[in-house]
Amino acid sequence: MQVVLGVSGGIAAYKACELLRLFTESGHGVRVVPTREALNFVGAPTWAALSGNPVSAEVWDDVHEVPHVRIGKRADLVVVAPATADVLAKAAHGLAGDLLTNTLLTATCPVVFAPAMHTEMWQHPATRANVATLRERGAIVIDPAVGRLTGADTGPGRLPDPAEIFQVCLRVLRGRPRDLAGRRVVVSAGGTREAIDPVRFIGNRSSGLQGYALARTAAARGAEVTLVAANTALPDPAGAKVVRVESTAELREAVLAASAGADAVVMAAAVADFRPETRHDAKIKKTDGEPASIRLVKNPDILAELGERRGHDSGAGPRVIVGFAAETHDVLANGQAKLARKKCDLLVVNQVGEGLAFGSPDNAATVLVAGGEPVEVPFGPKEDLADVVWDLVAVRLS
Ligand code: CTP
Repeated sequence: MQVVLGVSGGIAAYKACELLRLFTESGHGVRVVPTREALNFVGAPTWAALSGNPVSAEVWDDVHEVPHVRIGKRADLVVVAPATADVLAKAAHGLAGDLLTNTLLTATCPVVFAPAMHTEMWQHPATRANVATLRERGAIVIDPAVGRLTGADTGPGRLPDPAEIFQVCLRVLRGRPRDLAGRRVVVSAGGTREAIDPVRFIGNRSSGLQGYALARTAAARGAEVTLVAANTALPDPAGAKVVRVESTAELREAVLAASAGADAVVMAAAVADFRPETRHDAKIKKTDGEPASIRLVKNPDILAELGERRGHDSGAGPRVIVGFAAETHDVLANGQAKLARKKCDLLVVNQVGEGLAFGSPDNAATVLVAGGEPVEVPFGPKEDLADVVWDLVAVRLS
């Protein structure tokens, strides 16, 4: 597949080198089209060496090959990363003062913009209007990540992790539909931790990979995604709003707040069923060899609460509720009972036990469907399982 990588003049231009490598290493042909401003950050020799193709910001080089038309017309995908406020404005208004903006006007393939800029610029009404125009015309504009910007300041405006932008691009190249556009979904991921004292906690082995795969695929399918992440160490999925939590109480608050009026909530987080009755303010010291006993109390069941709330408050709760369950035995019977008890629409049941590792990028599961037949998902990437879940959610929403 032929990819045009447009690079505009922001400090995040250096991250586009990694995105370029991800494309070339997976066998894509890449033509890099930087703006003049981008070349202040990363020079043409770097782009040429990494892509193996000539690089120019101007329409005046190799004019006999009519590059201002040819490059765009031959592309299977144009991705602009980073996309500055300036390039978004030019694209929205159809300006064509350099090779990249000409390419954007001649491309008939899908176009992905990954904006990166200061928060003020991203939130400015002019940029908001330009992004809205581009989206209306069918371009995919990935919401920037929240985090550290060029200086010491933080806020929305960071370029998402190159690997996450790459995943979005791959799905576009494979022609995956954006069938969750206009939907608002909430995904919980990771595992909660319950503090014993300032240094110790009760936790679990959840890596958050399945929840992140759900958030990534939903965002790539066009949904507005809130990812409530408990103690994960993974890059933010491109376009998702990430809320970080530690304890079950924090997870509950964040999930309930985000799920009001949401189309779907997927509880992929491993939530601690119990927490220590008291959280010691000071570190517990060894007491003459006698270990201190820790009394546990029950945590609220967030998934069951979502189901209850929906029952009482029709219209306000999430329309579709998806739970997860890890079972060691009688997997389907236990799963069916849990589906009914927690009033879910779907329950993804995993068999756990010896040899089935946490933190693996792959998974196999059965998705139990309220009032329907179970769907078997064979062992494969967690994104595949996520897509099956979203397929079933999309059917229920339509
Ligand atoms: N869950 C939750 N709040 C809890 C515990 C679990 O929202 N306090 C959610 C999980 O996110 C998951 C589902 O419930 O989606 C399954 O949780 P699980 O712990 O397997 O179910 P339990 O009700 O604890 O059942 P059991 O201990 O009998 O297996």
